[in-house]
Amino acid sequence: MRMRSSSCSFFLLLVLGLLPLSLSEIRFSEVRNDDRPIVPFDQFGFTHKGRLELNVSRISLSNSNLDLSKVGFFLCTLDSWLHVLQQLEDGEIRCTLQSDLVKSVYTFNSLNGKESFNIEYKENDADQYNLVFANCHPQQLKVSMDVKSAMYNLDGRSNTRDYLSAGRTILPKVYFLLSLVYFALAAIWISVLYKKRLTAFRIHYFMLAVVILKALNLLCEAEDKSYIKRTGSAHGWDIIFYIFSFLKGISLFTLIVLIGTGWSFLKPFLQDKEKKVLMIVIPLQVIANIAQVVIDESGPYGHDWVTWKQVFLLVDVVCCCAVLFPIVWSIKNLREAARTDGKAAVNLMKLTLFRHYYIVVICYIYFTRVVVYALETITSYRYSWTSVVAAELATLAFYIFTGYKFKPEAHNPYFVIDDEEEEAAAESLKLEDEFEL
Ligand SMILES: *[C@@H]1O[C@H](CO)[C@@H](O)[C@H](O)[C@H]1NC(C)=O
Repeated sequence: MRMRSSSCSFFLLLVLGLLPLSLSEIRFSEVRNDDRPIVPFDQFGFTHKGRLELNVSRISLSNSNLDLSKVGFFLCTLDSWLHVLQQLEDGEIRCTLQSDLVKSVYTFNSLNGKESFNIEYKENDADQYNLVFANCHPQQLKVSMDVKSAMYNLDGRSNTRDYLSAGRTILPKVYFLLSLVYFALAAIWISVLYKKRLTAFRIHYFMLAVVILKALNLLCEAEDKSYIKRTGSAHGWDIIFYIFSFLKGISLFTLIVLIGTGWSFLKPFLQDKEKKVLMIVIPLQVIANIAQVVIDESGPYGHDWVTWKQVFLLVDVVCCCAVLFPIVWSIKNLREAARTDGKAAVNLMKLTLFRHYYIVVICYIYFTRVVVYALETITSYRYSWTSVVAAELATLAFYIFTGYKFKPEAHNPYFVIDDEEEEAAAESLKLEDEFEL
């Protein structure tokens, strides 16, 4: 018990304390009467042929008698940004735009009274850059403008545009390969089900559905990412994609609850407690998916992006913690039964198996949420795909472990159903039939 709550709270601290990097494509933002000295817009990993297109319109300044060379856009790497902050603190410079560490893209003194400008900026030093707006007259000047920015790399000889940041450009291929792996797993599972159809339970068919949903979800993800790569905007299979992620989220959590409570193995029906857990998890998954849509549609610097990101992660953690309860309950029940029951040996064996499953679920949740999150934060922008791959490989391992341990098999210890349990199951079946009538 202690293990669960401490890993959850540790995770919460991590989630709420850090803001993960997110890399994006074509962005549109409206700035209204803003007097912030620094407004971050976007973040992107350039290769040696990086481009920034910046189209700003409807510019209005509350005060045009100021030195407008101290107002404008610049690109800056994270490392140099720390140095710029140091320079400001040491009084070497008065305005971020004066630092030779930032790459000035456009300063507003070139506006000459115009209301808009379009520029294309070439960046040939490969690195991860932030696009930032600086206003060095924060007290005296309020800025309004519509900012449309696109950052991309030019690919190969043909110079086609690649709107995915340097470390993420192989993601469509990664997702596609993974979806093939899951389709292969589904095929293997179907053949196992066919061969062992006499010992297959309903839960084994449910597992098949979970694997197929995962494969379809990855396929959509591949399509979505390759659409962004080509066009810079997040569309394509949007709605289908969200539906699949929703179904996949729910079905995976349901599966964990079902297996964790020994459904189909120990008892064919969900009990009240587990039903309650699912009743909590399902609406939470709906919220998590809405949050995910908002996160995807608004950029990392959109108004409520941080809030939604936190909502999403918080809800996800709550779901993860919630599905662990039924497993703990089963372990507790089994332990008590083992103490009082004559058939202690069977119960003890089940107990150990459930403990293993419990530990694997914890490791899986911990790894895909915390370790991956940490990986995302510490790896260089060029390798940001590694965190995705790590999470997906852990998920794959979890699916394979679950499938292997719970495969239909006459002598699988999970299937050992003692007479009493069978009777109880038959009893509850009768009861339920009566209720339905
Ligand atoms: C910016 O404007 C140019 C010229 O009007 C246009 O070709 C380009 O597509 C625009 N870029 C963005 C990101 O809107």
